[in-house]
Amino acid sequence: MINNAGILERVSLDRLDIDSIRKQFEVNAIAPLRLTKALLPNLTKGSKVIMMTSRMGSIEDNTSGGSYGYRMSKVALSMAGKSLSVDLKSQGIAVAILHPGLVKTGMTGFTNSGITPEQSVKGLLARIDELNLENTGTFWHSNGEILPW
Ligand SMILES: NC(=O)c1ccc[n+]([C@@H]2O[C@H](COP(=O)([O-])OP(=O)(O)OC[C@H]3O[C@@H](n4cnc5c(N)ncnc54)[C@H](OP(=O)(O)O)[C@@H]3O)[C@@H](O)[C@H]2O)c1
Repeated sequence: MINNAGILERVSLDRLDIDSIRKQFEVNAIAPLRLTKALLPNLTKGSKVIMMTSRMGSIEDNTSGGSYGYRMSKVALSMAGKSLSVDLKSQGIAVAILHPGLVKTGMTGFTNSGITPEQSVKGLLARIDELNLENTGTFWHSNGEILPW
């Protein structure tokens, strides 16, 4: 199960849009948890759950600030993924918290500095293949790097 949907709305300290922060929590953090819970009856031993988070949700990696709603909601998503990894281990279900890389998509305005969706997916699929009950709960970059919380 891949929880991939997400939104990015820029919220700065100067323009602290609380409604936008709330919406980003709803879509980026709460919805993936609700969907995972709703679809649990369809998951069995050996199933895998992916939370598509972002490096922007790494507290340690945050050196540029801003993006309040996005960053805060992705931290919350990562925490949901970590708790799920603990709670679902006994059922044989592994959970990964994945960063796709900086990817040329609508979200990033198809940035020239990003990798293509195909390059990103190749790495993501390798991480999903690698995911098991020993490394469940890991926060990975699609390139295989383990990211700091
Ligand atoms: N691109 C990057 O560099 C990057 C970096 C880090 C993390 N990510 C994460 O990767 C994931 C995919 O991002 P992307 O770059 O592919 O973004 P995107 O091009 O903006 O696509 C976002 C996707 O999420 C869906 N979505 C948004 N809100 C939704 C809602 N309320 N209900 C159902 N679907 C909804 C959209 O569906 P519609 O088209 O129907 O609106 C769309 O398919 C996101 O979780 C994002 O945070 C992306």
